[in-house]
Amino acid sequence: MADQKNMDAPLLKVEHLKMYFPVTKGFFGKKVGVVKAVDDVSFDIRRGETFGLVGESGCGKTTTGKCILRINDPTDGNVYFEGQEISRMTKHEFQPMRRKIQLIFQDPFSSLDPRSSVYSILSEAIMCDGKPRTKEEIRNKVNELLFTVELNPIMSYRFPHELSGGQRQRLGIARALACNPELIVCDEPVSALDVSIQAQIINLFRSIQKKLGITYLFIAHDLAVVRHISDRIGVMYLGHLVEVTKSTDLYHTPLHPYTQALLSAIPITDYYEEKKRKRIPLQGEVPSPMHMPPGCPFNPRCPYATERCRTEVPKLREVMPDHFVSCHKYEEEKK
Ligand SMILES: Nc1ncnc2c1ncn2[C@@H]1O[C@H](COP(=O)(O)OP(=O)(O)O)[C@@H](O)[C@H]1O
Ligand SMILES: [Mg+2]
Repeated sequence: MADQKNMDAPLLKVEHLKMYFPVTKGFFGKKVGVVKAVDDVSFDIRRGETFGLVGESGCGKTTTGKCILRINDPTDGNVYFEGQEISRMTKHEFQPMRRKIQLIFQDPFSSLDPRSSVYSILSEAIMCDGKPRTKEEIRNKVNELLFTVELNPIMSYRFPHELSGGQRQRLGIARALACNPELIVCDEPVSALDVSIQAQIINLFRSIQKKLGITYLFIAHDLAVVRHISDRIGVMYLGHLVEVTKSTDLYHTPLHPYTQALLSAIPITDYYEEKKRKRIPLQGEVPSPMHMPPGCPFNPRCPYATERCRTEVPKLREVMPDHFVSCHKYEEEKK
């Protein structure tokens, strides 16, 4: 079936994405440097899966999301959505795609109009496709969305400031769902919430995915959060993707020294598992993205760094089935 083939193709394909920001100084905006926020990042997201993107703050996760949503125009590289190149489209060409890719922020409060009620926020989002609808159709759809995100219909008369953090995030999710998207970019959607509420919202994301078959790009700085929701995970470090694989493989056989260090910072409750584990402390600070070290971006903090790591940037390559890593250590082991 032709359709089947289409279903197997990735929903989103990011290829050699680069986003460089000029750093300027003074009144005349003299260019004094460049921040390589995203530097040659490639990954695929399959239809119906959750792809987690993790890494410390400032490593380029949000910028990657913004390039996919066309909030940033990438310096170089391509983004394909349903097989179509979207990063070079004109705003007019992108318009019909825009509805299919939605964004959920860390703090939905900053993106919700404080003067609009929940009802008007959702009804406005429902009208995004411009189709004519009766008042009753809109009311029904608002109720359906509130039901999906497990909010009481009474909430539709409330205003954002009258909602708790968890309720506001549910509203943010309902608004994203209003346009029947294919992909939702969730940028740290639970980072601002209490731990107990985080679990509820993560479960909600999961149940929505089961019900509606939506694909997520789930961004977080915390591996423990991403682990519970992602099918596959990409680990970012200083604008580079250093490891990409299935969530279970990443936890059981992390290959990149940075991933190993990140994972060893997560406490394990099982005593025997904990004893077996080798702890790799992260040395030093993340360098400034304006002053990138030559070679592998992780080399100044890597316990295994060699001369080659200090001069040559490693490429992301498949070292085990469906397990990609950018580290010279594995290239040499393969030889
Ligand atoms: N509009 C911008 N202008 C200049 N630098 C930016 C801009 N947006 C992000 N950056 C820089 O790019 C880097 C990556 O930022 P970001 O994508 O927000 O990281 P993350 O979401 O992983 O915390 C940071 O060093 C940040 O300061
Ligand atoms: Mg961010």
